[in-house]
Amino acid sequence: MDFYEVNKFAGALFGAGIWAMAVGMAASFVFAPEMPAKPGFAVAVEGAGGAETAKAAAPATPIEERLKTADAARGQKDFAKCASCHTPEKGAGAKVGPNLWGVVAGPKAHMEGFKYSSGMAERGKAGEKWTFADLDKFLTDPKAFVPGTAMGFAGFKDGADRADVILYLRSLADAPVALPN
Ligand code: HEC
Repeated sequence: MDFYEVNKFAGALFGAGIWAMAVGMAASFVFAPEMPAKPGFAVAVEGAGGAETAKAAAPATPIEERLKTADAARGQKDFAKCASCHTPEKGAGAKVGPNLWGVVAGPKAHMEGFKYSSGMAERGKAGEKWTFADLDKFLTDPKAFVPGTAMGFAGFKDGADRADVILYLRSLADAPVALPN
């Protein structure tokens, strides 16, 4: 190998090195990991429901279990988030939403004369009842459970909060339904 050839060889190696670097850099641009715009928890705010921080979805302990440790007095406090749209007293009128007396175990779209969304009205006509489990799903994410619902509430993401409020709703009746065993 004469000097000229060694030079060519070195040049080729050097060229390949630059090329590898260029490819590496380009790849790191193309494949740069995407960072979420806002790390941490999303904050869902909707309608007059006020700010409800969406906590990480609680592991799915069934509502029957959560009701055992729920507290109706805590639920009554949490009902402040509902009270802008719902009255809890027997015989009280509708606000943005229907009166909630007797809703637990009652038919869906239970208030006579209230203008429900068609999604909710159809469930009522189909004979569906507000079981504890359905209330739990509805209050987690109203729009996911009843597509097109008129209830502009982001939902209670915390399973214990939902159990508290459902236990309170149960007390809004002349004869509250039995709790699940
Ligand atoms: C921004 C107003 C608003 C807020 C806040 C709100 N709701 Fe509602 N809610 C409605 C409306 C409107 C409907 C009727 C939904 C439909 O027709 O699709 C409804 C329906 C319901 C129903 C079904 C009633 C029936 O007759 O079938 C329940 C149960 C209920 N809400 C509970 C709650 C609870 C509990 C809270 C608080 C955690 C709450 N809502 C917060 C507006 C609201």
